Amino acid sequence: MSPLRDRSQPAPGSDRVVDAAASGTAPLLAVRDLAVDFATDRGRVSAVRGVSFTLQAGQSLAILGESGSGKSVTGKALLGLIDPPGRVRGAIEFEGENIVGWDEARLNTVRGPGVSMVFQDSFDSLNPVYSVGSQVTELLRVRQGLDRRVARERAVALMRQVGIPAAEERLKDYPHQFSGGMRQRMCIALAIALRPRLLIADEPTTALDVTVQAGILRLVRQLQRETRMALIFVTHDLAVARLVASEVAVMYAGRIVERGGIDDIYRRPAHPYTRALLASQPDTARSWSDLRPIAGSPPDKAGIVPGCAFHPRCPIATDRCTTEEPDLRALSADRLSRCHHAEEVLDAAH
Ligand SMILES: Nc1ncnc2c1ncn2[C@@H]1O[C@H](COP(=O)(O)OP(=O)(O)OP(=O)(O)O)[C@@H](O)[C@H]1O
Ligand code: SF4
Ligand SMILES: [Mg+2]
Repeated sequence: MSPLRDRSQPAPGSDRVVDAAASGTAPLLAVRDLAVDFATDRGRVSAVRGVSFTLQAGQSLAILGESGSGKSVTGKALLGLIDPPGRVRGAIEFEGENIVGWDEARLNTVRGPGVSMVFQDSFDSLNPVYSVGSQVTELLRVRQGLDRRVARERAVALMRQVGIPAAEERLKDYPHQFSGGMRQRMCIALAIALRPRLLIADEPTTALDVTVQAGILRLVRQLQRETRMALIFVTHDLAVARLVASEVAVMYAGRIVERGGIDDIYRRPAHPYTRALLASQPDTARSWSDLRPIAGSPPDKAGIVPGCAFHPRCPIATDRCTTEEPDLRALSADRLSRCHHAEEVLDAAH
């Protein structure tokens, strides 16, 4: 397991910057103190609150958390896709350049071959007025300068790779002629067409049956081996996360609350929320009799409670938890937890 290391003195309440490779080489991606908020009729809503992490080429990070924890907003921010009145603060350094504040033209030089995303809702990301084949071939022609015939061959190959049967005949079909699962596979084909150096996959296999899902996960791992593509895999499915990622960041109420090696965290969580997440899913609960939903509901973003955001749901909360927000702190070389009582949680997991 590669060590995580502290890279900065964090601002109060923000995550420390952690570098999972600790190799001394410049990271592919360094996210520092990322905060995203939105203007709503109830005031500003903080969706992401001081998230920091780094990612090396070839590394895989799963982001886990309940609905509304800020996973998709984090992913979209990395592609410069938060539109005003949404507001992004902090730094997103991709290959050494901070892309926060870049205009669309500049962002488009990074999107595609640099960073690419499979969106959670595939219905939005295919253009309904163009055939699926022309969407892939145009992308390849415009961005890679391929001629029409070669682009078409590459499009068919990509469609086969993501498991679309009779790919050649289906090139002329429009998105509405595809099922939800097929559309999702086309989105994956589009996202990997330019061989991105970082792929952000937001619940990419949720709409797919188990066999197709396994095929897509194999394809992603193969791409990583061949091209050293880095991967951020957003999911609420802990078993799937384990198939693709070596590291995990657990998010709660817009913050990373635990980070470390995935097997390690599954064996010995160091945050009560991670422990509750593990106990809430059949694949990770210790036994069927241990399986239980997480009590309570996630906080309302317009009014996050003082102290630890998890305290109203936490079975071991103390007085300190209700007044003092915990920092994300290192428990060992490769584990961070945002809990005042993390050591006790770790010990209890023995
Ligand atoms: N455009 C927006 N305007 C206002 N609030 C938003 C906007 N986009 C997201 N949010 C809020 O930000 C918070 C985080 O949303 P996000 O989509 O990142 O959650 P998520 O972790 O991806 O959840 P899920 O598992 O349901 O996909 C939510 O409370 C959401 O309502
Ligand atoms: S800081 Fe307190 S309330 Fe928050 S997770 Fe830890 S024990 Fe629970
Ligand atoms: Mg989401």
